[in-house]
Amino acid sequence: MKLFQFLALVASIFAFTLASPVADEAETLQYEYIVVGSGAGGGPLACRLAMAGHTTLLIESGNDQAGNINISVPAYQGVVTNDPKIRWDMFVNHYQNQSRAMLDPKFTWEVSPFVYHVGPNPPPGATPLGILYPRAGTLGGCVTHNALIWITPHASDWNNIATITGDSTWEATNMDQYLDKVYEWLPVKPVSPAILLNDLKLVQHIAGAAEVMGEGPPLIGTAAALAVTLTVDPNSRINPNRDSTEGLFQVPLTMKLGTRTSVRDFIDNTVASGYPLTVRQNCHVTKINFDTSTPPIATGVSFLDGNSLFRASPLSGGTGTPGSATVTKEVIISAGTYNTPQLLKLSGIGPAAELESFGIPVINNLPGIGTNMQDRYEIPVNVVHGSDFSILNGCTFDGKPHDTCLTTWENNPHVFDARGTYESDGIAAAMIQRSNYAANTDADLFIFGGPVDFTGYFPDWNDAIVSDHKHFTWGTLKAHTRNTAGTVQLRSANALDPAVINFNYFDTGTTAGGADQLDLDAMVQGLNQSRAAYKAYNDYAILGGDSFVETEPGPSVQSTADIENYIKERAWGHHASCSCPIGADDNPNAVLDSQFRVRGVQNLRVVDASVFPAIPGVFIQSPIMMVSEKAADVILNG
Ligand SMILES: Cc1cc2nc3c(=O)[nH]c(=O)nc-3n(C[C@H](O)[C@H](O)[C@H](O)COP(=O)(O)OP(=O)(O)OC[C@H]3O[C@@H](n4cnc5c(N)ncnc54)[C@H](O)[C@@H]3O)c2cc1C
Ligand SMILES: *[C@@H]1O[C@H](CO)[C@@H](O)[C@H](O)[C@H]1NC(C)=O
Ligand SMILES: *[C@@H]1O[C@H](CO)[C@@H](O)[C@H](O)[C@H]1NC(C)=O
Ligand SMILES: *[C@@H]1O[C@H](CO)[C@@H](O)[C@H](O)[C@H]1NC(C)=O
Repeated sequence: MKLFQFLALVASIFAFTLASPVADEAETLQYEYIVVGSGAGGGPLACRLAMAGHTTLLIESGNDQAGNINISVPAYQGVVTNDPKIRWDMFVNHYQNQSRAMLDPKFTWEVSPFVYHVGPNPPPGATPLGILYPRAGTLGGCVTHNALIWITPHASDWNNIATITGDSTWEATNMDQYLDKVYEWLPVKPVSPAILLNDLKLVQHIAGAAEVMGEGPPLIGTAAALAVTLTVDPNSRINPNRDSTEGLFQVPLTMKLGTRTSVRDFIDNTVASGYPLTVRQNCHVTKINFDTSTPPIATGVSFLDGNSLFRASPLSGGTGTPGSATVTKEVIISAGTYNTPQLLKLSGIGPAAELESFGIPVINNLPGIGTNMQDRYEIPVNVVHGSDFSILNGCTFDGKPHDTCLTTWENNPHVFDARGTYESDGIAAAMIQRSNYAANTDADLFIFGGPVDFTGYFPDWNDAIVSDHKHFTWGTLKAHTRNTAGTVQLRSANALDPAVINFNYFDTGTTAGGADQLDLDAMVQGLNQSRAAYKAYNDYAILGGDSFVETEPGPSVQSTADIENYIKERAWGHHASCSCPIGADDNPNAVLDSQFRVRGVQNLRVVDASVFPAIPGVFIQSPIMMVSEKAADVILNG
């Protein structure tokens, strides 16, 4: 063992002793770095700091769910979002006009704490909540409950930050090294085509999609040809035109040997290797502390120890035990798009008027915190068949003994695809397309398909998507949306209360230059493309799939105006970001400089989904992890 590793081990044992769950007043916790939040942004960064030999405290509100089957089975990506030990039920407003918001059948009411009514006609006395936005309070953050999909960002995402800030280290050519860093610890693999190709009705849908993406017929009618199509990597680093390449693609997932693997495993392995990383779980940070010299210097954090304290958790109710920790170097906030701006505001950094209205002393008036929030829009076209998709035979998604897909997954090794359907996340393939309304040459539509009935998020959505095995979904996800009108505002001065989240969708958000209509047009095109794929399904009747009926939006929704209304009422998102943006020195709404430093204070950075000036790529976990690796490099190497 190298000397520094030995010292690191001693330090970590020492630190672990200090970090006993109950903090008494005599206890002084001091580290070089404190990272708040163990998700895609904070987890890898904390590991890298510790691996470089720095004592690092990683504070996580939730806890480690090691051994919980919900986090390891890829096909349980819906189930896991409903696990009370993990989930944070955040409710958001797509529209502030509540009558308009309630046109969405997913609009949810609180009947009693954590008992919900979804849709119109709530029982008397129910309180309107808005639209469920699943979040994970657990080790590894939302990556521990997400859909595992791994799509790397576009070069334009990085070059845009370089242009805005004048910091050339953000150029795509330089950012590539951070993807290499992520791949040092993150395995990525698509679902084996062999699993998908066992179900000929599924194959028939994929064949239809291949046709409308210009990849069929006649060859594609055979399963063998489809297998070739599905081995095409949408993240190719060899194809120079990758960002604008259209087609039908496999979907890469963050998994190893058919098991979800990601940030929490990196954290576990880093601790097990003896690096000086202390994970303090069941600990909710309530405030960043400052030495109020000029400029103010972050000195540490105050927190509450206790299980599931945040009131978005169905297990909440406890008040916790107060404690604090200090740093000799820096505090890094990685609490996610909603909780990072909330925590900054609670600590006196944010729009002065808002802070004062809650009686919070202003440390630094930064008006951009909790503004500029962005998300993608998503919309499905769903159909129902007369008979089941055979790939789902025996899959009950409930972990009970009759869940034979689970026993197959549990009892077989990862060879010859023997673990079966549950080593997939339910998504069979994706059409990647550039709409006629894209802002640049990048493909901006990701249309994923699978044998589920997915209409977005609402309480128990995970049961609804698989309540029968007869549905199929093609869901459009719009990349590079133009709406920057989302906000995160304090509900109260209590850190355990979730923030107030407004997305201000479509015409209630960014409208300059017809931005809202351009995004809507692209969504309509994606919806049309989904319908075209269903139509092309019928060209492959030879595969024997039975007919279907469209359930969403349904046959009556045909005119462009009707399709647009459908999208505006029901679209959703799940890549919320950009609420503490990096920006230029002369931009008063910039929250961070190009090195993640919070403007106007010292020794404080933000590293998570909130740092982006514009929503990156098609899926967001990969750019966040790349940013996490970049932040480690910036902090360690200047
Ligand atoms: C249902 C769903 C499916 C998704 N699927 C995909 C997908 O397939 N592919 C993809 O790329 N993206 C996906 N995403 C999005 C992606 O997983 C998240 O955007 C990403 O994980 C966010 O990373 P983050 O580090 O910013 O925040 P988080 O992952 O939310 O991490 C923040 C962490 O901070 C902790 N925390 C917060 N406040 C405090 C506090 N005050 N004190 C202590 N700890 C605190 C939280 O418990 C959490 O662990 C999905 C999202 C959802 C909701
Ligand atoms: C998995 O999550 C479900 C909720 O979706 C929950 O009922 C179940 O208890 C969880 N399983 C485990 C092993 O914790
Ligand atoms: C709110 O939304 C409803 C339903 O769309 C609409 O009829 C009403 O005019 C809106 N109110 C305002 C003030 O915009
Ligand atoms: C979508 O389809 C409708 C109906 O077929 C058509 O009128 C409209 O032009 C299409 N819109 C886009 C953006 O592709």
